[in-house]
Amino acid sequence: MKIAIINGANLNLLGKREPHIYGSQTFEAYFQTLQAEFPAIQFSYFQSNTEGELIDELHRKGFDDTTGIILNAGAYTHTSIAIADAIAGITTPVIEVHISNVYAREEFRHKSYLSRHCKGVICGFGLESYRLAVLYLSKPA
Ligand code: DQA
Repeated sequence: MKIAIINGANLNLLGKREPHIYGSQTFEAYFQTLQAEFPAIQFSYFQSNTEGELIDELHRKGFDDTTGIILNAGAYTHTSIAIADAIAGITTPVIEVHISNVYAREEFRHKSYLSRHCKGVICGFGLESYRLAVLYLSKPA
């Protein structure tokens, strides 16, 4: 089974970016624990701060044998019709994740252009939001 994790804007700064909101662990360190916990899953990881590069990666993983895409688009979640269209246009299911509980934060974070095209949304569990998405995707159909 293949699972693609895609992180968007500013998520390369995890570990040093607003640690009171996003924690103090780097995504690379968390990704290693995830891979160790699910050795049977072939993970890929892609991060970009650029909207078009995120769309290109969605297109690459969107029509191949990837079981599911776990996407944290960062602030593009709240702004990007182009990423929403990419999710709507691909066949691989996408799970939207957020580290923080966006509904407990500023009002502009309450709107997601992406959610309606996603299989589901997980937010507010810290980096464990990604693990919960993996658990869903790895359960037998
Ligand atoms: C985030 C929430 C977004 O509102 C914010 O812009 C991010 C991170 C999260 O994971 O909590 O960059 O997606």
